[in-house]
Amino acid sequence: MNMPQQVLLRDAMRQLNMTRDAFAERIGSRRRALDAWLLPDESNEFRAMPEVARRFVSEILASSGRPIEYTQSAHDGALRRSLHVDGAQHLLSVAQFDREAIDELFRLADVMQPIARRRKVSRVLEGAVLANLFFEASTRTRVSFGAAFCRLGGSVCDTTGFTFSSMAKGESIRDTSRVISGYADAIVVRHPEQGSVAEFARATNVPVINGGDGPGEHPSQALLDLYTIQREFSRLGKLVDGAHVAMVGDLKYGRTVHSLIKLLALYRGLKFTLVAPPQLAMPAEIVALVSRNGHVVETATAPARALAGADVVYATRIQKERFAHDEVLEGFGQAFAIDRALVDASCRKDVVLMHPLPRDGRPGSHDLSTDLDNDPRLAIFRQTDNGIPVRMAIFATLLGVDKLVSRSMRDAAWTPPSHIGPDDSSFHGLD
Ligand code: ASP
Ligand code: CP
Repeated sequence: MNMPQQVLLRDAMRQLNMTRDAFAERIGSRRRALDAWLLPDESNEFRAMPEVARRFVSEILASSGRPIEYTQSAHDGALRRSLHVDGAQHLLSVAQFDREAIDELFRLADVMQPIARRRKVSRVLEGAVLANLFFEASTRTRVSFGAAFCRLGGSVCDTTGFTFSSMAKGESIRDTSRVISGYADAIVVRHPEQGSVAEFARATNVPVINGGDGPGEHPSQALLDLYTIQREFSRLGKLVDGAHVAMVGDLKYGRTVHSLIKLLALYRGLKFTLVAPPQLAMPAEIVALVSRNGHVVETATAPARALAGADVVYATRIQKERFAHDEVLEGFGQAFAIDRALVDASCRKDVVLMHPLPRDGRPGSHDLSTDLDNDPRLAIFRQTDNGIPVRMAIFATLLGVDKLVSRSMRDAAWTPPSHIGPDDSSFHGLD
């Protein structure tokens, strides 16, 4: 079965590490034609790619040492290998990934897009049960993992907070994990202690996904963040290699930035500007790891001048729940808020503004401001939407149905929305 043209083209650009302009030139087409080939099928501007162009893309890939028949089964393995931990399949840390595995995951996420946009349905996980175990607050991770599993035909069981689980009665992680493994086929865990999700994984042979372990990691968030950066960059004609990424806020306890910076460090020649008050700086061992990989790391204690030239500004919330005492917040004030005035004064016109969310909207919180909400540079809701295809791709791989997804797709019977938020260009048809 032929790959959808959008999947093939995005994959080819990733494999060849080419911007859209460079790729359009390489295949002898106009950038505008390529843009139209990349749009979702349901978009008015979508155009089918001529067969001759498809063949030419395959030839280019073949001559660059890539497989000639660029089908889903042509070069798998790296992703499944990276998810292999102690004889089982788990997603615990971004340290499990290399670029090949990331490319494979993102190709599969692209395959999932018609399901995420609610044009297609699939039942490949019919009969499978996901256990969502969240011992810390969550909206996105819990619901989007659940929705991703359901959209592939599975069902979800939940427990939230310690109070409503028998951990409140002193049950260990090990016992809990073993018990749940008898009920469910995959487990997503969020827990306040660093390393706790790996402990869950050690007690079971069922795939375990780290949905956030204290200040440790949040690997699925970093994967969807990187997927978002690549898609935004594709539209903007940029590559991850050589990019300038600014991370702002609580870099000490923010697990999303810990995972994201390690993942970005797999690319080449990046510049990172880490903007945080000294008491919330990025842990030294992570900075050392990124620097060892040949990237430039600069630090700043205020955003104003530090954001100049950044291709991505990744803002974060102060992780107040990790602090023992409120005093540590002293001095972390208005200076760290990211708002329209700061962005207009300090950032590039084509900057991509990101945040893992939630943003703290309470008075005096100094988080990402809502006055940027209608600004097309704000990618936060494209970011949350991308959680669905990326998490579907993670499940499909962990449960071994990745090859079946394309063939399993049928048209959705209901009328899907053409866009979700009032400002979304036709459900991301913009790219
Ligand atoms: N939701 C993200 C996390 O759980 C970021 C945050 O809460 O600030 O890590
Ligand atoms: N980004 C994120 O993890 O959001 P939640 O805490 O709402 O799951």
